Amino acid sequence: MIEIAPSILSADLANLAAAVRLAEAGGADLVHVDVMDGHFVPNLTFGPPVVKAIRRHTERPLDVHLMVEHPERLLAAYLDAGVSRVTVHWEAATHLDRVLAQIREAGVAAGVALNPANPVELLTDILGSCDHVLVMSVNPGFGGQKFLPYALDKVRRLATTIARGALRTTIEIDGGVGPENAADCVAAGVTTLVAGSSVFGTDDPAGAIRRLREAAERGVR
Ligand code: DX5
Ligand code: ZN
Repeated sequence: MIEIAPSILSADLANLAAAVRLAEAGGADLVHVDVMDGHFVPNLTFGPPVVKAIRRHTERPLDVHLMVEHPERLLAAYLDAGVSRVTVHWEAATHLDRVLAQIREAGVAAGVALNPANPVELLTDILGSCDHVLVMSVNPGFGGQKFLPYALDKVRRLATTIARGALRTTIEIDGGVGPENAADCVAAGVTTLVAGSSVFGTDDPAGAIRRLREAAERGVR
């Protein structure tokens, strides 16, 4: 099953309630929330109270992507905000096993994000504790960047490892995703597609979500 997760980073940040309504109108499966701390990435976005406020405006599961240093310091506040999925960056969590366990103990799906330069083999021993892996197809920090095609090879290698281990881990891709590359992502093994500017950068975000799903489904093997 393909999941479309529009990223509200590219929406009107002064009207997030409208953004999540548009996401729902387009049939989004998840709402992707990019949390940036101004340290791990040079940008600053949504704190826990903002995520809590978004929660009150949508029934859709919130997919929180923590681009923060020391995620363990902030984790409890985000877990309390009513989120469904939390992803931490491999480089940011010194004690990754412990962080993933904390997320899962809260009944929330736990995932690890890999920056473009980080090989999927870094996750070999922890993959069984990951509900999902988020493969970054741009350098994190900003919306509207160009898709890095070598991310697809990483997705393929990850999909092979997951299949070999008969694991339930799913693969999410984030950055520069749009109708022009969605089928390739899915054919490589992605099931969750994050899209910011290709959805909220258009005049018709709901229509863009539907078109993205159609494009993605053409990649189903
Ligand atoms: C980038 C974020 C992405 C971003 C994607 O650091 O993790 O989720 O919103 O935006 P687009 O789809 O415009 O590349
Ligand atoms: Zn993201």
